[in-house]
Amino acid sequence: MTTAHASEVNTSGPNEFGYNNYALGNFSFRRDEYFAHVIWPTGSHTISIDDFLRALQRDCAWDFFYGTVNFDHVVGTINHYGNVDLFAGRFNAAFRKAEIDYLQNFETPVIRNTFHTMLDNWTNSTFDPFASPAETQAPWGNKSGSNTEAVTRRRVAAQRMVGVQGDEQIRSDATGHPINRMFEDVPQSEPEVHAEPGFESEIAAFNLFAYLSRSNVTWNPSVVSVCKESLYCPTTEEYILPIVHGNDRVEWFIQLSDEITWDVADRETGSPRAKVVMKAGDCAAMPADIRHQGFSSKRSMLLVWENNSADLPDLIASGKAPQYPVTF
Ligand code: PHB
Ligand code: FE
Repeated sequence: MTTAHASEVNTSGPNEFGYNNYALGNFSFRRDEYFAHVIWPTGSHTISIDDFLRALQRDCAWDFFYGTVNFDHVVGTINHYGNVDLFAGRFNAAFRKAEIDYLQNFETPVIRNTFHTMLDNWTNSTFDPFASPAETQAPWGNKSGSNTEAVTRRRVAAQRMVGVQGDEQIRSDATGHPINRMFEDVPQSEPEVHAEPGFESEIAAFNLFAYLSRSNVTWNPSVVSVCKESLYCPTTEEYILPIVHGNDRVEWFIQLSDEITWDVADRETGSPRAKVVMKAGDCAAMPADIRHQGFSSKRSMLLVWENNSADLPDLIASGKAPQYPVTF
């Protein structure tokens, strides 16, 4: 394993398709009309540009998220919270066996800078990587304009609970959005709050379904409540989760509406382990030794519940905390 420190954004000018090429340590990235090409010393890999940009968008917006973000079965990142591994074939049994897998570690600001710059340069004006495929135009072709506003959207994060004093602005943002075409039947009434005198700033309630019905992004959890390390991160889902998540901790899913099918596979090798069909009201826990990817035919609402404790990866890796939430 090698560590790169310097920022290595290539500034040699646009390629024949109008896009900049990027170098990051011993990796390089090139975009053409249809594909992203990732090249490393022992191999190379091609990803359809729509898939690549959707995955890159999440990795950027979530600042490398919890644990592993697999862009697909070959390329991805591992978050070590301060530094990040960029890998090719690390979690692919065939690449490992052939010894052509590759991994390089970067200080977070270095890889963050390259990823953010590449996302902005490679996204044309008509493509929104956060939108469902039915709600954006295509990413194909030579470079044409940019969509900086869309790709730099900030993830909504409450400090306490949405609606409690100090977090009102999050709701007024949300209510500025129209109801999504798939959620027109969602009631918009708000709960009545009758606080005892003196407690007006301490008690709040809001209609989470109404809030989510106005989300204009997919597969992008927002944080609506924070209680110590417990984060409630609801999100609206349509089509396919653009990354395959290999978490470094247990996470919980509560299906709030409609249906999502999850493909669950071994985190190390990618061999399939389970298919989980979640209907409205279902609750599931994803253990810490798997990877998972969701499929949602109709836009649906999902509550992702994360334990944000920084101690968890080490506790699990050292065997002090279990990889499973329940032992049967
Ligand atoms: C997950 O990896 O658990 C995840 C990510 C984004 C979502 C939903 C689930 O929108
Ligand atoms: Fe996950």
